[in-house]
Amino acid sequence: MNLLGISGSLREQSFNTALLRAVEKYLNRRVRWTVADFRAVPLYDGEPATGSAQQAIERFKQDVARADGVLIATPEYNYSVPGGLKNALDWASRPAYESVFRNKPVGVMSVSPGAIGAARAQAHLKVILLGMAAQVFPYPEFALGGAGTKFANGEVTDDSTRDRLHKYLADFQAWVAKVR
Ligand code: FNR
Repeated sequence: MNLLGISGSLREQSFNTALLRAVEKYLNRRVRWTVADFRAVPLYDGEPATGSAQQAIERFKQDVARADGVLIATPEYNYSVPGGLKNALDWASRPAYESVFRNKPVGVMSVSPGAIGAARAQAHLKVILLGMAAQVFPYPEFALGGAGTKFANGEVTDDSTRDRLHKYLADFQAWVAKVR
């Protein structure tokens, strides 16, 4: 099984990117894990892209196309998803309803130092994915609050978070195997 991780944060010390590093450790050994990089994807303008911008868009789309399932870990910016993540998804969502995301199994995780673990951003992202005709992993949810006490040096340090993550990933992998 090929799984692709996408972090909604471009921040060096990102909790969400750290969560994806922890994901890699917990996946079944037979899973091939890749993390996408959308940093070079330009702002969406509806025009044919050229040069390095086009390459960045195509690389991102190919990463999604090759994956049997996608796991997005997103922060919450002003009650929604970060603009950079939304922009990359907008590029990848074209052509509408025929894109690399059509029927793609996608899980959404979210992390925040705040109390509710970026749950609003997570809910927004799930609706966005439905608008792209993706399949969205329904349950269990993984919204992790209080991140400041659950990570150190880019690693998960909290046992209950590790247990939750383990369970989430087992269920997610079983779901992807069923619906892909
Ligand atoms: C935030 N943050 C934030 N947190 C939250 O729980 N709800 C929110 O609405 C917001 N809004 C918000 C807007 C902007 C512009 C920034 C930069 C930050 C705080 C955010 O959760 C925190 O910076 C996280 O650490 C971001 O995730 P990463 O980068 O650690 O993965």
